[in-house]
Amino acid sequence: MSLHVLDLGGRPVIIGGGIAGLMTALHLAPEPVLLLSRSPLGADASSAWAQGGLAVSLGEDDEPALHLSDTLAAGDGLCDVEAARLIVYAARAAIEDLAHLGVRFDRTPAGGLRLGLEAAHSRRRIVHADGDGSGREVMRALVAAVRSTPTIEVVEGFEARRLAMEDGRIAGVLANGPTGPVLLATGRVVLATGGIGGLFHDTTNPLGSCGQGLALAARAGATLADLEFIQFHPTALDGPGRPMPLISEAVRGEGATVVDETGRRFLDGVQGAELASRDIVARAVWKHLADGHRVFLDVREKPGATFAQNFPTIASACGKAGIDPARDLMPIRPAQHYHMGGVAVDLAGRTSVPGLWACGEVASTGLHGANRLASNSLTEAVVCARWVAESLTGTPACRTKPIASDCPSADPTIVRPLLSRALGVLRNGEALKAAARALLPLAERKDAASDPAAVGLMIAIVALRRRESRGAHCRTDFPDHAAVASHSEITLNAALAAGRDLAASPVLESLS
Ligand code: SIN
Repeated sequence: MSLHVLDLGGRPVIIGGGIAGLMTALHLAPEPVLLLSRSPLGADASSAWAQGGLAVSLGEDDEPALHLSDTLAAGDGLCDVEAARLIVYAARAAIEDLAHLGVRFDRTPAGGLRLGLEAAHSRRRIVHADGDGSGREVMRALVAAVRSTPTIEVVEGFEARRLAMEDGRIAGVLANGPTGPVLLATGRVVLATGGIGGLFHDTTNPLGSCGQGLALAARAGATLADLEFIQFHPTALDGPGRPMPLISEAVRGEGATVVDETGRRFLDGVQGAELASRDIVARAVWKHLADGHRVFLDVREKPGATFAQNFPTIASACGKAGIDPARDLMPIRPAQHYHMGGVAVDLAGRTSVPGLWACGEVASTGLHGANRLASNSLTEAVVCARWVAESLTGTPACRTKPIASDCPSADPTIVRPLLSRALGVLRNGEALKAAARALLPLAERKDAASDPAAVGLMIAIVALRRRESRGAHCRTDFPDHAAVASHSEITLNAALAAGRDLAASPVLESLS
């Protein structure tokens, strides 16, 4: 099939139609931009599924310094303090941006923003929209704003498959579209592709989110940071369906308890109990399940009668599963929910590859450290989109002559069991090495599994190298913190080389 080459005349391309991509496009206006989305805008973006809202210190008892200190505490020594400070201090302006764009936030009878509580926040500071439908409402407003901005050209149904390079810098995007491959020639590209939930069997994310942005960046030679830090949400509704319906932390914020089949609140010995940070609650639930118990969320007493009204999305998921939260316990288990690591970026969203920016979950700004504080990610996406747009505007477009090769669409099906087994809530060196060995040949192939496998291999290698437990990365063979908290960095070439070394070493020796 012939390759159609389209010269964008200097326009940048944003890949991804979630909150990060849409906000970047809106902040760029009136500079013309092309926004590439695999699905129709609003469909299949994990942003639209967000129940929790945006963390922002607006309460009378709150201030950005407290938000910062909660963020750093949750991040378990690995947040980039300056990045975290700048982002939480910019949160208020981000909420104003969204309100200005038409997001209808939930308000008190007096007209102020209603503030919810989520785990590890010392104050009520979660702004919601449409109750537990926050992401949906934000996306509604942003999609409408994008559609009515004439300088934003939205191209739906195209999957970005490779970044074309020339002289070490970005020269274009190769995408598969309904009529075949197309090469979009541009010197400026923003990745806003979301996370990696589709690489795991148990996830609360759309299954199509399988690390495409990480693969695009890695194959272009970018450095990726802190990939081993993957957040598991403790309260996904347990049942046969995948992805798993999320039961927002806000439900525990309103008093719901975690119990086992005997009715025991087994978290009562954990500091913070149900509202301890997400990594701690996820591990406690995981271990209790592994010990042969069943685990449930109990909303009957609190939030009680207001549950269905305040959490309609969750109530509807329960209804579909035949559970009446007013009478029944809700079965839960941890599920992959968010990726703290990503493409290493500075605060302008610049990656290590000239001409390439990243924004939102695909990027690693350093805000989240080893464990993201709940509802900090939508705030980060909205705040950073402005900075990315400013940086893009300040970077002149250069004419390019891209060279590209063809590439099939990504399919993580055979990779999923490998990551689910080795890179879950509890990890150990033996399982990580086995996963890396199995992922290497898949990553070296040129087929639908190779990009998901390349992403999995990079994660397995850095998880193996981090011989400590910190935040969401828990090694049963290295249960303590290392003396010094350090970030991890990796490139695809380094991961492939490490994978080959591992494959060449005798199994028994490499297990030591
Ligand atoms: C939740 O509502 O529990 C999820 C919020 C988040 O992941 O930030």
